[in-house]
Amino acid sequence: MERTFRIFRFNPEKDRQPRYDTFTVAVQDGWTILDALNEIKWRQDGTLSYRRSCRHGICGSCAMMINGKNELACEKQISTLKGEITVAPLKGFPIVRDLLIDQEHFFENLRLVRPWLIARTPPPTDKERLQSPEDRKVLDGTWECILCGACTSSCPAFWDNDNFLGPAALLKAYRYVADTRDEGLDERLQALDSKHGVWRCHTIFNCVEACPKSLNPTQGIVELRRRLMREKL
Ligand code: FES
Repeated sequence: MERTFRIFRFNPEKDRQPRYDTFTVAVQDGWTILDALNEIKWRQDGTLSYRRSCRHGICGSCAMMINGKNELACEKQISTLKGEITVAPLKGFPIVRDLLIDQEHFFENLRLVRPWLIARTPPPTDKERLQSPEDRKVLDGTWECILCGACTSSCPAFWDNDNFLGPAALLKAYRYVADTRDEGLDERLQALDSKHGVWRCHTIFNCVEACPKSLNPTQGIVELRRRLMREKL
C-alpha cells in the first residue's frame, strides 16, 4: 500500500530555511516509521539524515515527532496512522541535519546528576551490595528509561531554557536517589536543588504523555522534591 510522508529537511550548512519534502512509499504489512525512513534513504534520497541503531525500542536513538507526537520511529507502526504522515525532529534540540538532533547538551545535563550508583561504605559481602525485593521494587518505573529524550523535548520549561535538567535527567537522578544502596545524594544536591533543577518543573505532565516507555518522570521529580525537602529540614 502506498503512503505519503512529509519529512522535515534542513541542512544548516546550506539551507536558509527548513522545508518539508514529500515522499511516496510502498509500505508493507508490519512496517514501522523507521522502515519507511530506511526505504526513502536507501531508494529515494540518500541524503536524508536521522539516527537509529537497535531497531527494537532499546537504544533510544530514533525518537522523533510523528504527526506531532514524540515517538520511537522503530516502534511506531505505520498502520496505526491515517492519511499523510508528517515526521519532524524532536522539538527544543539544535538540528544537526534533517531529523538528526544534537543531544550533547542533553547528555551534559544528565552527567550533572551523576547517574550512577555512589557508594562509600564497603559492601556487606565480598560479592555485592544486597537489596531486599521490596526496596528493589521501588525502582520500577525509573530504570526502564532509555534516554531517548522524548520527554525532555516535550517540556515547555526545557524549550524556554535548555539548562533545565529536564525530565529525563531528573528521572534518572531519582532512580539512584531512591536506591537504598546509594549514598550520593549530597553530591547530586548542587544540580538537583539549583534553579535549573527540580524546582523548575511546572508539573505540566507533557513528559508523561510523551514517554514511549510509559514512565512517569513527573512523579520522579515530585519524589525528588520530597527527598530534598526532608534533607533541608
Ligand atoms: S532504533 Fe533504538 S530505540 Fe529505535
